[in-house]
Amino acid sequence: MARLRRVCNFGPAGIYAFLQPHLSQPRFKPLKNQAHRFCIAPMMEWTDRHCRFFHRLLTRRALIYTEMITTGAVLRGDRARLLGFDPAEHPVALQLGGSDPAALAQSARIGADLGYDEVNLNVGCPSDRVQEGRFGACLMAEPRLVGDCVAVMKAAVKIPVTVKCRIGIDDQDAGLSPRENRDIPPLDYERVYRLKRAHPALPIIINGGIPSVAAAAAHLDHVDGVMMGRAAYQEPWRLLDVDPTLFGAPAPFDSSRAAACALVPYIEREVARGARLHAITRHVLGLFHAVPGARAFRRHLATEAVKPGAGAKTFLDALAFVGDGADAARTAAA
Ligand SMILES: Cc1cc2nc3c(=O)[nH]c(=O)nc-3n(C[C@H](O)[C@H](O)[C@H](O)COP(=O)(O)O)c2cc1C
Repeated sequence: MARLRRVCNFGPAGIYAFLQPHLSQPRFKPLKNQAHRFCIAPMMEWTDRHCRFFHRLLTRRALIYTEMITTGAVLRGDRARLLGFDPAEHPVALQLGGSDPAALAQSARIGADLGYDEVNLNVGCPSDRVQEGRFGACLMAEPRLVGDCVAVMKAAVKIPVTVKCRIGIDDQDAGLSPRENRDIPPLDYERVYRLKRAHPALPIIINGGIPSVAAAAAHLDHVDGVMMGRAAYQEPWRLLDVDPTLFGAPAPFDSSRAAACALVPYIEREVARGARLHAITRHVLGLFHAVPGARAFRRHLATEAVKPGAGAKTFLDALAFVGDGADAARTAAA
């Protein structure tokens, strides 16, 4: 299997040459809202609904993606558990994995009916599991099939249908394991910018190795949007800058601590419904990166949140380790 180079997120015409025969005029509709200026990447086992709810507390404007969900899971799995989301998550995009056009069309329709704002086809994820199923990154080698899939998905729903793909497919990267390929993607931003210049009407969202909101802002001079993955997840405090810096809107909270406090009612509700505290708080561990008390915050949650009966009080006890001036301390250290 050829390894794939560099990750980026394109609108449908990332596979332009092949899609053209299927598309009605106008060929590329701009995405309706501006949320795609900043997207939080789909990340399996990370961007579950708890994570998305938490991220939404930090940015009201970003477009948030689900983990990839296969068509098999959508059509035959526990739909409420796999596809359920909180209304507060909007705008939220459902990422699908699959390569059977009919199954993708049906799954897209189910997603649209459930209220997702966009449906995205994964043509970029190189995990072993995904390759076995003939979807994800291996679809990069089958652009006609991708074209067929996107065409039927577009016909099935009124919401935007997008494709997340890589900018190339390359045997030279064959030495990298799927995880390495995912974690250390060779990047070529200039190539993505060139693609945008060549197809100005095509919405293009760039992704891969973008470390900060300031870096994201710089990309916006060249492309329509930026997608951030690991930096958003591992250092979620960065998301508080998204609305002011990229959307000219106030941040939802003026500190990471205030955002964390706003998670408490959600924790109470979800734990009362049977969720384990750790399933929620594991996504919050990076919130106080590099500020006094951060290590004690993480340690408390790591040991206590997994215990039976752990709930909002456990989270508040962890928060007590972090002072009110956490963000100021981080800024001073930067
Ligand atoms: C833990 C993890 C899970 C991922 N799962 C998915 C996925 O489900 N679908 C997908 O298209 N990409 C997936 N990716 C790739 C990310 O969406 C993103 O393209 C990649 O991490 C590069 O962006 P970044 O450098 O900002 O992290 C995953 C990445 C990570 C680290």
